Amino acid sequence: MTEKKKKGKKYTERGFLDYSDKVIELFKNPKNVGEIEDADVVVQEGDPTCGDAIQLSLKFDNETIKDAKFLSFGCAANIATGSTLMEMIKGKTVEEAREITIRQVLEEVGGLPPVKRHCAVLATRALEKALEKALEEYGRE
Ligand code: FES
Repeated sequence: MTEKKKKGKKYTERGFLDYSDKVIELFKNPKNVGEIEDADVVVQEGDPTCGDAIQLSLKFDNETIKDAKFLSFGCAANIATGSTLMEMIKGKTVEEAREITIRQVLEEVGGLPPVKRHCAVLATRALEKALEKALEEYGRE
């Protein structure tokens, strides 16, 4: 890393991570952000390695995921994968949503730099937790 002086302030020159156009677009304009007021399931999941967290809230219509929202307390990769995952599960049954893999989420966002793949894992783990809770509480399958 190279340090430079600019306008009297020192800053560190850093290389930007090689995010896909889709990740950058979703970071700027994420979909499905927020909380569902009358959600059937709300879960939080954290990643102790980076200290970030994500919250998901889901609303069901019988066995189908009618609505899904997320709040990210993480990075651009987590926001992009959270947004994408919510799009991917809406309209699916719990069983169909459980079949979504991290690989599919990564493909959907156009890939992530290796150092950021754990951010997609965080979003996917939160979904697994939410779906398990749905099955436990409501027996939805
Ligand atoms: S670095 Fe923590 S979620 Fe991305």
